[in-house]
Amino acid sequence: MALSSTFLPTFVFLTCYLCLLMYPHITLAKHGSTGVTRHYEFNIRMQNATRLCQSKSIITVNGKFPGPRIIAREGDRLVIKVVNHVSNNISIHWHGIRQLRSGWADGPAYITQCPIQTGQSYVYNFTIIGQTGTLWYHAHVSWIRATLYGAIVILPRHNTSYPFVKPYKEVPIIFGEWWNNDTEAVINQAIQTGAGPNNSDAYTINGLPGPLYNNCSSPKETFRLKVKPGKTYLLRIINAALNDELFFKITNHTFTIVDADASYVKPFETDTIYITPGQTSNVLLKTKNLKSNARFMMAARPYSTAAAGTFDNTTVAGVLEYVINSDTSTMSFSNTSIKGLTLPPLPAINATSYVANWTNKFRSLGNSQFLVNVPKTVQNRYFFAVGLGNDPCPKNQTCQGPNGTKFAASINNISFTLPTTALLQAQYFGKSNGLFTANFPTAPLNPFNYTGTPPNNTQVSHGTKLVVLPYNTTVELVLQGTSILSAENHPLHLHGFNFYVVGQGTGNFNSATDPANFNLVDPVERNTVGVPSGGWVAVRFRADNPGVWFMHCHIEIHLSWGLRMAWAVMDGKLPNQKLPPPPSDLPKC
Ligand code: C2O
Repeated sequence: MALSSTFLPTFVFLTCYLCLLMYPHITLAKHGSTGVTRHYEFNIRMQNATRLCQSKSIITVNGKFPGPRIIAREGDRLVIKVVNHVSNNISIHWHGIRQLRSGWADGPAYITQCPIQTGQSYVYNFTIIGQTGTLWYHAHVSWIRATLYGAIVILPRHNTSYPFVKPYKEVPIIFGEWWNNDTEAVINQAIQTGAGPNNSDAYTINGLPGPLYNNCSSPKETFRLKVKPGKTYLLRIINAALNDELFFKITNHTFTIVDADASYVKPFETDTIYITPGQTSNVLLKTKNLKSNARFMMAARPYSTAAAGTFDNTTVAGVLEYVINSDTSTMSFSNTSIKGLTLPPLPAINATSYVANWTNKFRSLGNSQFLVNVPKTVQNRYFFAVGLGNDPCPKNQTCQGPNGTKFAASINNISFTLPTTALLQAQYFGKSNGLFTANFPTAPLNPFNYTGTPPNNTQVSHGTKLVVLPYNTTVELVLQGTSILSAENHPLHLHGFNFYVVGQGTGNFNSATDPANFNLVDPVERNTVGVPSGGWVAVRFRADNPGVWFMHCHIEIHLSWGLRMAWAVMDGKLPNQKLPPPPSDLPKC
């Protein structure tokens, strides 16, 4: 039974003090003894925003950029009504949410649903099961996620606690990219000409670019984190950037990583965080025992090994601000005063070995409460070569991609074509005919030296091909990066599952020797993993969630170029192993 808002104040103090404090407009209803139902309304509308001395109209949730925070506890049900008031088609993906038997609510356009058309709405309805930490939501159609994204904060169940020191405060830190131009025009132009896309104009922390962009950003455009001395802060870090992996650092401070993609990890210390688009991480920041006011700069800038095309080579800065004495007159806040702070020494742009070491440090917490369920035996084995490629230039056109062709990207040389209606509907109603085929290759049809000199012919083929997985079978997937056109890191994201990262290496994967070194004891569990530039990564998961599940590179331009595919997981025999029918308001194409 839903409580009307007039009853909320009493209810708040009894049951959900924290979430209601921040989101007084949400309504709660008890549901079983496990969790509550939380209702949100997301009105997708245009909003003017000014950054870097330019104003533009951006697509937002409820006029906010970044979008409003969703706060829930593990076990809660979320019911989010999305109403589309803009002229673009919209769909929203709840990135990292397992969506157990709720695949209709996953969100990627043309995979699990047709997008929501102008003036229409759709209610996303799902329960958070077995996940605590930080996830996020973003638009999942074209490049609209450039401005449409926000944090999903998942607190432990009532009467359970974090497996680490209780933080004094929790703060989301969302990295993004800011474009002076309309990002829909940027991607349309790139697809048209075949060239790499234009770069973003700035990186942002919680939507703010900071003082290092000419003299143009105002002090108001700098993120300030005010802290007290000697306290532990939990930073909920999200990389929502479109196209760039990032390094992040705060001058003279260190972090303790405690979680990745809403799964606990064995804590480890670092002074530099590396995070790919799509990844999230909870980290503890212990503030110093300072006696007087002080400021430290925080900064993020990209990691890139791209030989093809350019990238946004700028730095976003923010300020960590100790406010100890009430007299803050010596602390005037201007661009000059912030720029005068010491920039934290970030790794080199192409610090590939830093990135490899970083990925190796992640281990599941793995104790009696948080089990490691990595499949020990494998029923379905796949080897996917992921990377760039090209398409020939159409007649009567000049193209600006590699050697006058058009850029493309592929998995096993298939550049995935999005269908015109949702795959999940076609699968559920048994109407796959003509829309997709179930013959995605388990390995490249023409093997080559993936990380050596590329083959002469680097043209991709196109298709809408899926892998079909019987219910509850186990999968091992080796993702092999290629050096075609440019060896780059590809953050591969799988919808509907977490996978265990059991191994990684440089060069070509060796199926005879590498598996012996797989970690089947405490591999990290995540939803997005970087396929190393010029290397490989191996993951395992159990296909325990019926539906159609997108898997793709979370670098938006690679996704647009076709570095994507989908898995169709069959229903099991028992009623609770089947995908329920679609909700009646499922959008139509
Ligand atoms: Cu965060 Cu399919 O995406």
